[in-house]
Amino acid sequence: MNILESEASWSLKKINSEKLITADDTAVICQSWNQLDRYLDHLKKSFPKNTLHAVAIKTNPHKEVLKHIVQLGFGLEAASFEEVQIAAQTGISYDKIVFDSPVKTKKEIAFCHEHFPGIKLNVNCIEELQRIPENPSFTLGVRINPMINSGSPELYHVSSNESKFGVPISERDKLLEAIVKFPITQLHIHAGSHMTKLNSAILAIQKLVSLAEEANNLLAQNGIKRRIKFLDIGGGLPPEKIKTEKTSKMQKYALKMTELLPNLKNYQLITEFGQWCYFYTGYAFSKIEYVVKRGEKRVIFIHLGADYLMRDTYSKPRGIIFKTYNSFGEKKNTELQSYDIAGPLCFAGDYLMKEQQLNLIGEGDWLALLNTGSNSLGLWSRHCSRTVPKIFGVDFEQKKINLLSNRQKID
Ligand SMILES: Cc1ncc(COP(=O)(O)O)c(C=O)c1O
Repeated sequence: MNILESEASWSLKKINSEKLITADDTAVICQSWNQLDRYLDHLKKSFPKNTLHAVAIKTNPHKEVLKHIVQLGFGLEAASFEEVQIAAQTGISYDKIVFDSPVKTKKEIAFCHEHFPGIKLNVNCIEELQRIPENPSFTLGVRINPMINSGSPELYHVSSNESKFGVPISERDKLLEAIVKFPITQLHIHAGSHMTKLNSAILAIQKLVSLAEEANNLLAQNGIKRRIKFLDIGGGLPPEKIKTEKTSKMQKYALKMTELLPNLKNYQLITEFGQWCYFYTGYAFSKIEYVVKRGEKRVIFIHLGADYLMRDTYSKPRGIIFKTYNSFGEKKNTELQSYDIAGPLCFAGDYLMKEQQLNLIGEGDWLALLNTGSNSLGLWSRHCSRTVPKIFGVDFEQKKINLLSNRQKID
């Protein structure tokens, strides 16, 4: 049994035995503190000490989870002004917030200038620079499209010629001109999510360093003291299981970039990892409401579907593991059967998995969904207006479980 499964098994028993839920709680979401800490610690140790790791808020925007991350000294990457406001409520120092929205309004930029001094704000296009105050109280960055193929799936690929993200690196002259003219001190890339080609990802960072060097020379030639000081390399590594005895992809990525690009050490490095930090740190449970036969198929209906796991139902399943428990939270040991797992939404595509082998189950049993830590709660869909269930934080080592938020109410 892997560690997350052991934890989930313990949590479900505890939730049931301590009556932390009522009959109305047909589903529950859990955040593992131990696993989250393990991933964050691994991330921190993989990179140079002074790196600012701004964890992407969108991957899991729960305020208690963000507070936990901030208390560990990490930064936060905000993809919208709303996320900036959420970040500000965690007690974070503003210089650890990176604001990346591609559609910042004039008012939002002015608000950051006035109320969030020190925040790191990356513009998405040259046009946005016109909206920046003359002497901003924030660190001004510009997002560059490195125009590489990072091996991201089409849906998450942001470095093509016509990407809506960043100024294409092919517009180098325009970029250099802007760096001289505006108070830019930071360059940013996020080459794609779920990148599979690490060499290409490093090539993108190489392009960033080379642009920073050229820009700094140009600034010096123009008698300007300002320099590019911060390089924000974004996120984008797919989730991986980290093992103490094996070098992780994250370690290889960090090691390779620092070895191949020695000048990187002249800059303060910023990262924005999201799904890598969270994927294996979350799990959820749903009661099995119905088991029905449709032709030769057995279908189970549960209370979490495309509302919670939108990416898995609308695009491609990402590796959720299903386990079965009885109503007391004890593991089922019955014979294996094939089931289709249907979510609760009124649309035909709402299946989490088809022909999944599960121990024989019935109404009132529980289904555990492991590896749901990233881009699940954050993508909660209002389709059919189903509400977000209770969310618990679990410290398996200390055998503690605490309620992070109650079941959402209909306003
Ligand atoms: C600008 C930016 N930074 C960071 C992330 C996090 O990406 P990932 O979860 O792939 O690490 C995203 C994801 O969409 C993003 O758009």
